[in-house]
Amino acid sequence: MTTKELYIGIMSGTSLDGIDTALVEIDNNQVRLLDSYDHPIPDSLKQRILDVALGQQTSLPEIGQIDHLLGKLYAQAVHALLDKSGHKASDITAIGNHGQTVFHQPGGQTPFTIQLGDANIIAALTQIDTVADFRRKDIALGGQGAPLVPAFHQSLFQSQGSTVVVLNIGGIANLSVLRPQQAVIGYDTGPGNMLMDAWCHLHEGKAFDKDAQLASKGNIDQALLSELLKEPYLALSAPKSTGRELFNLPWLESIVSRYSTSVADVQRTLCEYTAQTIANEVSKFKLGDNPELLTCGGGAHNPLLMQRLAELLPEWQVMPTDDKGVDSNNMEAMAFAWLAYRRIHNQPSNLPEVTGASKLASLGVMYFADK
Ligand SMILES: Nc1ncnc2c1ncn2[C@@H]1O[C@H](COP(=O)(O)OP(=O)(O)O)[C@@H](O)[C@H]1O
Ligand SMILES: [Mg+2]
Repeated sequence: MTTKELYIGIMSGTSLDGIDTALVEIDNNQVRLLDSYDHPIPDSLKQRILDVALGQQTSLPEIGQIDHLLGKLYAQAVHALLDKSGHKASDITAIGNHGQTVFHQPGGQTPFTIQLGDANIIAALTQIDTVADFRRKDIALGGQGAPLVPAFHQSLFQSQGSTVVVLNIGGIANLSVLRPQQAVIGYDTGPGNMLMDAWCHLHEGKAFDKDAQLASKGNIDQALLSELLKEPYLALSAPKSTGRELFNLPWLESIVSRYSTSVADVQRTLCEYTAQTIANEVSKFKLGDNPELLTCGGGAHNPLLMQRLAELLPEWQVMPTDDKGVDSNNMEAMAFAWLAYRRIHNQPSNLPEVTGASKLASLGVMYFADK
């Protein structure tokens, strides 16, 4: 009897660069990517999400409308992926939907995290059972609700004696540390592309600094870099997770405004800041003669960032996860397909040693399509 099932993962990360969808076949926990599709987010909706995410004054109707519009957009993305791949809705066991994080505040007296994109709408419009709300049970158990990908990274990559670090560079950068006979470590190191994107958008009107063209024209402002490196989040010990609530444009401008650094020099300094905050963490985990740093997420396409990571970590072999047979552009969407599989099969999917939760739990909530 075959145990193969098809799942669709949907990821829209903090960069707001689009909705990533992945169609995967899962057989006994082993994931194979069959197809993928990136769906655009209309600029007007992107701006509304950013306004909420930056803690601007908002209203309940605004949040309700974004929740509704994203639910529809995710369903459209699934339909487009099904068309592209030639599959029918009835072929798919379930969708795993991350949703759009608009606020992540896992610490303090009243921890919470909010992802929008109504999964009832996804299930109703696609006629596919949908798993969503993956983060809040972990938070209810005292965890960070993030990062959730380390368990998936663990299922994909094994350490052969030397450390393997999987580094996802999305809006925020997060790593998973895999070592033999040791618990997985995983946390957000700090900014990924988010600050570089925000600065480039403000000054060049572009969504991101493609191939580090602007940064490459600038020089590092060491005083500004030292100031940025003082951010207290960087010195916190794990478990920890962060987001746009902290590393946002107003935060950046409040620091940059004290310097007279040129636009290109700030861009170059932000690239260096991102590289150093990542490398400082990765270097803590070197074990064995051939440690590997496997990169994924959009930041893996930034040549200057990759060059600086390789230079800052001379003892590490730095390569995209593609070199190990896993598509680096679809890692997160595949992870949420796998998390849906774990929910459907009642298998745990958080790693308490990573998130700080009090126990293992199967994450996600089922939204049935009532076919
Ligand atoms: N050619 C490139 N040059 C520089 N940066 C790139 C390039 N391609 C992608 N990126 C970066 O990757 C980001 C998207 O990464 P992604 O992994 O989708 O993040 P998220 O998970 O937050 O949505 C873009 O916003 C951009 O900063
Ligand atoms: Mg993205």
